[in-house]
Amino acid sequence: PTARTKLVAGNWKMHGNLAANQALLQDILSGLDACRTEVAVCVPFPYLAQAQMLLTGTQVAWGAQTVSEHAQGAYTGETAAAMLADFGCRYVLVGHSERRALYGESDAAVAAKFAAALQAGLTPVLCVGETLAEREAGATGAVVIRQLEAVIASSGVQALARAVVAYEPVWAIGTGKTATPQQAQDVHALIRGRVAADDAKVAEELQMLYGGSVKPGNAAELFAMPDIDGGLIGGAALVAVDFLAICAAA
Ligand code: G3P
Repeated sequence: PTARTKLVAGNWKMHGNLAANQALLQDILSGLDACRTEVAVCVPFPYLAQAQMLLTGTQVAWGAQTVSEHAQGAYTGETAAAMLADFGCRYVLVGHSERRALYGESDAAVAAKFAAALQAGLTPVLCVGETLAEREAGATGAVVIRQLEAVIASSGVQALARAVVAYEPVWAIGTGKTATPQQAQDVHALIRGRVAADDAKVAEELQMLYGGSVKPGNAAELFAMPDIDGGLIGGAALVAVDFLAICAAA
């Protein structure tokens, strides 16, 4: 079996300022020595230049938190994938549950953003996950597979060879309520199995992150599961010692 590399990606959401970001990134860089995993931070758009300035030539990659589905044009307030590439982004999150829930992003819109990111040479991090109501209704599998299949239908399964998938159960995001390693593993295995039905090699190599209240105290047991290849970290990514501890656990 392929030894997939582990990735720990921070999602800063709408947090930070120039001074705080600089301190955070410097603390992360100076504490990463022992860590051999891939590390990334997804920062708010205005701070991409700062991330590029501070992280170029380091082991920390950077990215954005969403992207327009359009390449350019009269779309006031939107940001094109090529613009993200211009600032050295490697990654962009697409379909984070906050985008889906608060900004009405449909599966189709997420699939279009995924395609736009790939088109610009970025690595999209496709976020999928069920709400508490969906889990309680026994619909977890159906929901994440529907979200995944929207992307497969529009970009093709091969596109996943150039992407990352993040499973983030909505009920575990920012709630302090983490999925158990087995709950997370079960969904990761389901997703990998669905990809394998189309292409076994793509499935085997697909990097899949877990997100939702990952902390220093629970990261190691989550990352030890066979289909969990790292984490997408919210709150704990804003605290250097916590983020570093999570990186060390990967
Ligand atoms: O994208 C990461 C995320 O939604 C998880 O947030 O604060 O629960 O780690 P948090």
